[in-house]
Amino acid sequence: MEYVRIFDTTMRDGEQTPGVSFTPEEKLEIATQLDKLGVDAIEAGFPSATRGEEKALKDLLNAGLKAEICVLTRALKSDIDVALSCDVSSIHTFISTSKIQMKHALNMTPEQVLESTVNSVQYIKNHGVTCEFSPMDATRTRFGFLRQVCKAAEEAGADRINVPDTVGIMAPQKMEKLIRDLKAVVKTDLSVHCHNDFGLAVANSLAGVVGGATQVHVAVNGLGERAGNASLEEVVMGLHMIYKKKTGINARLLYSTSKLVSRLSGVLVQPNKAIVGENAFAHESGIHTRGVTSKPLTFEPFRPEIVGRRRRLSAGKLAGRHGIKAELEESGIHPTDVHLKEIVNRVKELGDKGKLVTDADLSAIARTVMGEVAEERIIELTDFAATTGIRVIPTASVKLLLGGKEYIAAETGVGPVDAAIKAIQKITDQLADVRLTEYRLEALTGGSDAVAEVIIKVEDKEGNVVSARGAREDIVMASVEAMINGINRILQKRGRIRK
Ligand code: KIV
Ligand code: ZN
Repeated sequence: MEYVRIFDTTMRDGEQTPGVSFTPEEKLEIATQLDKLGVDAIEAGFPSATRGEEKALKDLLNAGLKAEICVLTRALKSDIDVALSCDVSSIHTFISTSKIQMKHALNMTPEQVLESTVNSVQYIKNHGVTCEFSPMDATRTRFGFLRQVCKAAEEAGADRINVPDTVGIMAPQKMEKLIRDLKAVVKTDLSVHCHNDFGLAVANSLAGVVGGATQVHVAVNGLGERAGNASLEEVVMGLHMIYKKKTGINARLLYSTSKLVSRLSGVLVQPNKAIVGENAFAHESGIHTRGVTSKPLTFEPFRPEIVGRRRRLSAGKLAGRHGIKAELEESGIHPTDVHLKEIVNRVKELGDKGKLVTDADLSAIARTVMGEVAEERIIELTDFAATTGIRVIPTASVKLLLGGKEYIAAETGVGPVDAAIKAIQKITDQLADVRLTEYRLEALTGGSDAVAEVIIKVEDKEGNVVSARGAREDIVMASVEAMINGINRILQKRGRIRK
């Protein structure tokens, strides 16, 4: 199996993502994780461009990591000197070679670019340092000139030549051909660095490997300038599973690495992103959930555990009874048929409103239905209304069914929850005299339409204490549900209704 080197640029090109900046401590944490993950090279930064970079770099170099620690420099002696002063043993140096960039970004002639290439590579090599050379904007460079620059870099001693698709304009077939054509000119190992402006960075990187590149530049979660770089996790899994290539990556750490980088960069991963997105191994429709529970490969390309993940049978409007049951059982929750029916109804109710029901939501609903909702209920809520506002006194009215008889009560309070609890107590006081001793509210998922879980403790005059839960999108309804559940439980515990 051919080995492909993974060159990670999360902390260099990835740090060029708008709004992303890593502290030296964060860089050390990311580098340590990348090293465990098994990348071959870590591009740690661009010391002459970023202040404070030298400290981060020194910490990384002293951390005893196995990976090659590399830094970026322009093909300029002053930049290279800054890198050398940090005692690096690997430098990635670049210069623009496309007509548009030579003229408008560098204001240099092709001859000057050629001369800088040779001088920089030689200067780096004369210091005994590994040198990777990049003709920037290679994919928009006239092939004749690109060939000339790459040959000159090789003769000057470059250890690797990296081909950047700087503005992401390549198509996979063109990338494969370009690398093949360059391979016919230089013997030096070739690498590809693809940007994602047309969403083709991963495809182009893989095509580069098919063409003969032995190294790929990647960034965790596809971070990078503009639309980003080829994503590490997608390139690696494509290489392993589709192209049957070998890398040093321990795929089981891909998800935790993605999580770490997302947390430290502040860039959220889109839910439907391949490999590391929250939905990458989530199944919603009944057909899919039934399929994967009996044979995972029916609707999965590979087992989620391979990349450090778990399958998620997402409960939503399309979710079947089977999938919800399997999802609950995976979390150690075993509902009876009666409970399951109620759980499925509630999940479908939320799904019909277009709400995604997460694992946490499902567990909360199940806990409420199973733990607190008795199959035989003494008190039942039949109607409820609450008002609140700035110039109105929060008021709630409830209608409860007790032993076949309907009772109505209304109360005011400091807010609608307080008013609702008081209205319930007004009715049940004659039966149970239950007091609320603890109240906790948790929003399970983000957003104002999140499922809220209310956890309460109630106590009666006889000293019986029970805890109860309610889980609804509406906080007031979740509170009412928790209170009714609490009273039911306490009455069941006493085994009788006081007359
Ligand atoms: O995209 C690019 O061309 C780069 C170079 C510095 C290699 O990031
Ligand atoms: Zn780049």
